[in-house]
Amino acid sequence: MKKSNVDRLITLEEFIIQGQNEFKGATGELSQLLRDIGLAAKIISREVNKAGITNILGVDGSRNVHGENVKKLDIFSNDQMLHALSRSNIVCMVVSEEDDGIIRMQSSSGRYIVHMDPLDGSSNIDVNVSIGTIFSIFMRNSDPADYPTDDDALQKGTKQVAGGYVLYGSSTILVYTTGVGVNMFTLDPSIGEFFLSEKNIQIPEEGTIYSVNEGNYNTWSPGLKKYIAYCKENDKKTNRPYTSRYIGSMVADVHRTLLKGGIFIYPESRKLPNGKLRLMYECNPISYIIEQAGGLSMDQNGRRVMEIEPTHIHQRAPIYVGSKKNVQNCIEHLKKYPKEEPRFIEKAELQ
Ligand code: AHG
Ligand code: MN
Ligand code: MN
Repeated sequence: MKKSNVDRLITLEEFIIQGQNEFKGATGELSQLLRDIGLAAKIISREVNKAGITNILGVDGSRNVHGENVKKLDIFSNDQMLHALSRSNIVCMVVSEEDDGIIRMQSSSGRYIVHMDPLDGSSNIDVNVSIGTIFSIFMRNSDPADYPTDDDALQKGTKQVAGGYVLYGSSTILVYTTGVGVNMFTLDPSIGEFFLSEKNIQIPEEGTIYSVNEGNYNTWSPGLKKYIAYCKENDKKTNRPYTSRYIGSMVADVHRTLLKGGIFIYPESRKLPNGKLRLMYECNPISYIIEQAGGLSMDQNGRRVMEIEPTHIHQRAPIYVGSKKNVQNCIEHLKKYPKEEPRFIEKAELQ
């Protein structure tokens, strides 16, 4: 196992306060918000770990706003996150994968807006595979004396003040950035404390793992087909064929990519012209983390995902994210091979 680059025990709380002290003029609100999220993460982690024995697993019978089956843990996680975000009266609005509209919090004068995927990878719950929580934090543009506007919730990813995820895996870890590097914390469940386990994480410049749902191969662009064929070719000098890994929980697939390098792709396709993943609470925070770690996150045109101007809180975006060299190479393939004409697209697929 890789040795940690942290030489003494530092709790998440300590670390956040240290970081705050380094920022002149910081009010402590963002620090408080991160601590609140840390608390929700511990509660969700506890529930995830005992899911099998409390019969919380499985579909609760209802559907979320995207018509997908909602699992009980999705609802639990959504409630816990909302509760945590209302604790300190600093969040005025929340956008959640589980709620159709913008959630206006009681503290309308709060300066922060949070976008979240309370439980990512929910199809993996029933089979005991890693799942996660993703969050993205913005500051509002409107005057806190007024009611926040919808536009406050529709800012580009480059405007994020913090982004992160929690991974409920063989251990529970929290990874976040506030724009000064990426740090990782591991939960010690016996004392309920997150400890810094890796500071200033850097993604390898190049990796040998590609991660994409290959079942969708027939719906891909010619460029992506060519790139994946390249990944499978035999070439000792470039360590090919690459290894293929796909968990089906974005948080878990991206976390592996962050630590080991390589590329994670959820592409645009004939079936899903904008991909599947949501810009505001999946693609943006993940892009922020990976870019802060020295990697790249782009759309099919080689544009930074965080530069996409949002028009809808639940909009989707294609994503090609990971080690710099792998992403550059993939985008070059996409550009080199022209696009097919899209077939007739069903209205339902465009949502
Ligand atoms: P969620 O559980 O929040 O709906 O997200 C699931 C997402 C993401 O975690 C994962 O990368 C992707 O769905 C997998 O999709 P496919 O099954 O289409 O590969
Ligand atoms: Mn998700
Ligand atoms: Mn989800």
